Amino acid sequence: MKIFVDTANIEQIKEVASWGILDGVTTNPTLVAREKKAFVDLIKEIHSIVEGPISAEVVSLESSGMVDQARRLAKIGRNIAVKIPLTKEGLKAVKILSREKIMTNVTLCFSPSQALLAAKAGATFISPFIGRLDDISHEGMNLVRQIKQIYSNYGYPTQIIVASIRHPLHMLEAAQIGADIATVPFDVLEKLFKHPLTDIGIDRFLRDWRGLPEKDKAF
Ligand code: E4P
Repeated sequence: MKIFVDTANIEQIKEVASWGILDGVTTNPTLVAREKKAFVDLIKEIHSIVEGPISAEVVSLESSGMVDQARRLAKIGRNIAVKIPLTKEGLKAVKILSREKIMTNVTLCFSPSQALLAAKAGATFISPFIGRLDDISHEGMNLVRQIKQIYSNYGYPTQIIVASIRHPLHMLEAAQIGADIATVPFDVLEKLFKHPLTDIGIDRFLRDWRGLPEKDKAF
């Protein structure tokens, strides 16, 4: 499974890139607004760090406006995936952009039938929002299972990005289901590394190592 980081924060992106596990980045208007930087400059800065897909979202509600904004964003680099909301206007834009070979990430997906339509329109990625479904007492991960089955029934190439991840178990379940990608907030990625037995194990090994005579420690 590919791992994207779900942030527009440059320090966080650099940090995750340094861990050697970063396959891409997703942003959204909320995440961008937190950074207090000009949108296009911020996406260009992310582009200078990350080689994999970088999602940047349009804000127009009409297909013609979405297509114009998408074309401008796509000029930043070939790895820009334009995020388009899952509406009728959005899917019209996706169809046009897919003919132009501009990558699209169809966002705010909350049902399997929406995901089917996005694949038919030619979306490169579909983003089911798991945490927001859990928030309203729906089993978010079921949506990922349903989309996975539908896409495999018909061989749609649209890649599933499990989005709105809130904790490590979401990421684990996404991998067990076989989702293509999980986009994970920075704090959740940090938690994935942690295990108390790892820390205890390192402490014990180093304590025992200290017992070795100095002359025998060189290597
Ligand atoms: C995905 O692309 C979105 O940016 C993100 O996962 C939304 O997460 P949230 O529901 O925690 O805002």
